[in-house]
Amino acid sequence: MAKSPVFSFAKLEQPKKGVVAFVVSKGSELGAIAKAMDSDGRLKRAMDEAEFDGKLCSTIELLAPESGHEKFVVIGCGELGDAGEVEWLRVGGKLRASAAKAELLTIVCETGAGPLAEGANAAIAAGAKLRAYDFDKYKTKSNGKQPKTSKIVLGVEDPSKSRKSWKIMEAITDGVITARDLVNEPANALGPVEFAKRAEELSKLGVEIEILDEKDLKKSKMGALLGVAQGSVRPARMVVMTWNGGKAKQEPIAFVGKGVVFDTGGISMKPAGGMEDMKGDMGGAAAVTGLMHALAARKAKANVIGIIALVENMPDGNAQRPGDIVTSMSGQTVEVINTDAEGRLILADALWYCQEKYKPQFMINLATLTGAIIVALGNHHAGLFSNNDELSERLAAAGTSTGEKVWRMPLGKEYDKMIDSKNADMKNIGGRWAGSITAGQFLQRFVNDLPWAHLDIAGTAMGSPKNEYNQSWASGYGVRLLDRLVSDNYEN
Ligand code: BES
Ligand code: MN
Ligand code: ZN
Repeated sequence: MAKSPVFSFAKLEQPKKGVVAFVVSKGSELGAIAKAMDSDGRLKRAMDEAEFDGKLCSTIELLAPESGHEKFVVIGCGELGDAGEVEWLRVGGKLRASAAKAELLTIVCETGAGPLAEGANAAIAAGAKLRAYDFDKYKTKSNGKQPKTSKIVLGVEDPSKSRKSWKIMEAITDGVITARDLVNEPANALGPVEFAKRAEELSKLGVEIEILDEKDLKKSKMGALLGVAQGSVRPARMVVMTWNGGKAKQEPIAFVGKGVVFDTGGISMKPAGGMEDMKGDMGGAAAVTGLMHALAARKAKANVIGIIALVENMPDGNAQRPGDIVTSMSGQTVEVINTDAEGRLILADALWYCQEKYKPQFMINLATLTGAIIVALGNHHAGLFSNNDELSERLAAAGTSTGEKVWRMPLGKEYDKMIDSKNADMKNIGGRWAGSITAGQFLQRFVNDLPWAHLDIAGTAMGSPKNEYNQSWASGYGVRLLDRLVSDNYEN
């Protein structure tokens, strides 16, 4: 795999070699260090020539400056007062890209308007690390682009404060990378059993892991989940990850993820075009696993349960058929009209299990659940469905701060009626219209009174537009969002 750059924080001073980047805010001039290094004024002239005004992520590059460095890069961060986490991630990502071939990049975190705070410095480093991510483990020939080791030094005012901030940010970043790795992995290498093993690796960070195998799932009467799994030669798994970083008596909060390692559609098979993307139909489970990684690595002061339901949806002599009626763990029966609406079936049992066994403060599930949410929202917002305004508002706020945005969609009786069945308690599809909403209604039938939110991440977990800090097909969407939800609201 592409090696991550190595990061360090040092006191602000004039770097001696390598590529040097200067961060400049809108309307400011070069900072004092940059000015001192630009002894012949060529950098300043290049900026004037290009009418550089410090706009976010606009850059000026000067190759082989008089000083003998490889390159100077000036990058704008926009108005200092407007810059938050997303802006710093973008700056860090862009700088890593413009110095991708360098062995040493020094970022002088001194804007013309003053030095940057530790949170900004840490987010710049995170942006650079996320940008450096490349899923290249199956490429046998190197593209020659990666340096042997690339070192990134951030010149900051208070290195120890910045290091502390980076420790937390790096934990979160590593959680995002875990999620991206899982989603990018092809399904021949990552079946339910292999996924469970990957989750088990989190025990190194102090996460307790329990793996339920087929026997356990049968014992719990998870007929909806097992109906989906029965067409695959690879047996289902459910993994419960527990992080107890909060007060002993505090009820846990819970996250539940859809983990369909590959979704052919089953007997209601999908068309061939683009079907390969269905290796990413475990994006919800990947986000929950990445979140648990982040929370444990930064030792979050919260009690958290992460549950992932892992199956493969295949057509087979033993696969379930349209018209089959299955009995879920809740006792409710479901008529399976379309075997391609499988995510809701496995989540029905996972949500019920979570609620009955752990009695959490709230449950949030993540799922690449419907193509319809992509029709509605494209790739820029996940669909949010919830029975609780407070939880929804907190998610929306976390979305704004992290750039992992959510958009609330309606739920209601009229939509719920659309999944009534003449042969069973409900059917698993609602007809042509409002497809992402009827999927949400289905899930809600497996949630009692506790606060619950469903995030439909079909458009955001994979194939979302590339940006300065993500060039990967799998974005790792959800990890930063939910980590922020926890840190802003649920840590003591
Ligand atoms: N995994 C798909 C949804 C999906 C589509 C995710 C595109 C990512 C990209 C899901 O299991 C599915 O097949 N949903 C069907 C539901 C339909 C049969 C009611 C869909 O969206 O077409
Ligand atoms: Mn499907
Ligand atoms: Zn699916």
